[in-house]
Amino acid sequence: MKITIFGSGYVGLVTGACFAEVGNDVLCVDIDQRKIDALNSGKIPIHEPGLDEIVAENIKEGRLRFTTDLREGVEFGLYQFIAVGTPPDEDGSADLRHVLSVAESIGTYMQEYRIVINKSTVPVGTADLVREKIGSVLVERNVDIDYDVVSNPEFLKEGDAVNDFMKPERIVVGVDNPRTRELLRFLYSPFNRSHERFIAMDVRSAELTKYAANAMLATKISFMNEIANIAERVGADVEAVRKGIGSDSRIGFSFIYPGIGYGGSCFPKDVQALERTAHKHGYHSRILQAVEAVNHDQKSSIVRKIRGHFTDGIKGSVFAIWGLAFKPNTDDMREAPSRRVIEELLSDGARVRVYDPVAMDEVRRIYGEHDDIFYASNPEEAIKGSDALVVLTEWLVFRSPDFEMIKRDLAHPVVFDGRNIYSPEFMEQSGFTYYSIGRPP
Ligand code: UGA
Repeated sequence: MKITIFGSGYVGLVTGACFAEVGNDVLCVDIDQRKIDALNSGKIPIHEPGLDEIVAENIKEGRLRFTTDLREGVEFGLYQFIAVGTPPDEDGSADLRHVLSVAESIGTYMQEYRIVINKSTVPVGTADLVREKIGSVLVERNVDIDYDVVSNPEFLKEGDAVNDFMKPERIVVGVDNPRTRELLRFLYSPFNRSHERFIAMDVRSAELTKYAANAMLATKISFMNEIANIAERVGADVEAVRKGIGSDSRIGFSFIYPGIGYGGSCFPKDVQALERTAHKHGYHSRILQAVEAVNHDQKSSIVRKIRGHFTDGIKGSVFAIWGLAFKPNTDDMREAPSRRVIEELLSDGARVRVYDPVAMDEVRRIYGEHDDIFYASNPEEAIKGSDALVVLTEWLVFRSPDFEMIKRDLAHPVVFDGRNIYSPEFMEQSGFTYYSIGRPP
């Protein structure tokens, strides 16, 4: 099959590479010439395990190409995926400018039947706007060409995206006629093996499914962070509570890890956008507002513990920070809780020595050369000359470090763990003062 993907960001690139991997001819289109040049020379702009290999392989096989030429993109694929960004606008609603500009290009250049498939996370009703946009351009052109608009939300997670795409738990498509449903089912058949994963529904329900999934997961996290905050006050251990409730299959073990709040490009933006959509339709969502408010506070929870420990203030203190990306296996710093922590420590007059296994370039891009930020090239270098260690992302390399070295090189044997990756008993035996989330000190 011939497939065009508009937008070579995270979702577009993974989608394009994975469709090529199963034998389709894929053309990825992006308006960013630098990005397209880099991709054509095999350079992937994001850190995503396994993606480099399949991109390189499929470029070599001639099944995957990149261009900035919109017309070529529209002429190429029967299937036209829209996978461009939907950043929040000033009031937190999703900004549809990029989505509608792709729709306009499709209307402008299409010569024959096209299926337009929306993969970007867009508010309910966007497929209708895309349909109207294309329709109005066709009217201007004074041509009558058939087309369909489909919603096909993406559920991939950064750091595991290739796997999520190749072995999806579900393939959700919102269609308004059986012909499109069958064309989509056919396109996805390589990924729909062993049992039925294809869930077809109406377009608006598919659009809402994406937001509902992310909002539910974000709610689980904020809920668990509240339980952690309660546990700290009543002298309970949230890790025991987590095991206790996770074993109830109706609750489940996933997404109930307490921590320093969720980040990334999806949850913060999508919870807010869904809340705005509800508001515009006259509904006040108390749960979504609470999920956001809890997350906002949780990002500062570790700083409150640091301030509580250093009762004389932290002006002039130095903190080693391990882990900066919003979660492991990605270099994504969007909405990363580490940013809030760094900024609050600096505003109190402290300095930081930061280290992350893959996000250093991103962090440097954000903060640049900075008197109070030292960019360490390994975990040990961050520790040297610091007063205390703060762990913010649960990378595997931080799970079993050389605690003797840490104790020797820190001015104070104090560890603040925002991800509960160490055992309080072990830390005590090793001679550390240890703070974590929702566990007795
Ligand atoms: C999320 C969803 O998991 C994907 O299904 C969805 O497709 C994607 O958003 C999207 O809309 O594109 P992602 O943002 O990549 O994926 O990351 P997650 O693994 O879901 O983690 C999000 C945040 O929640 C991270 O900051 C993580 O540290 C935090 N988290 C996660 C917790 O604090 N506790 C948990 O138990 C789980």
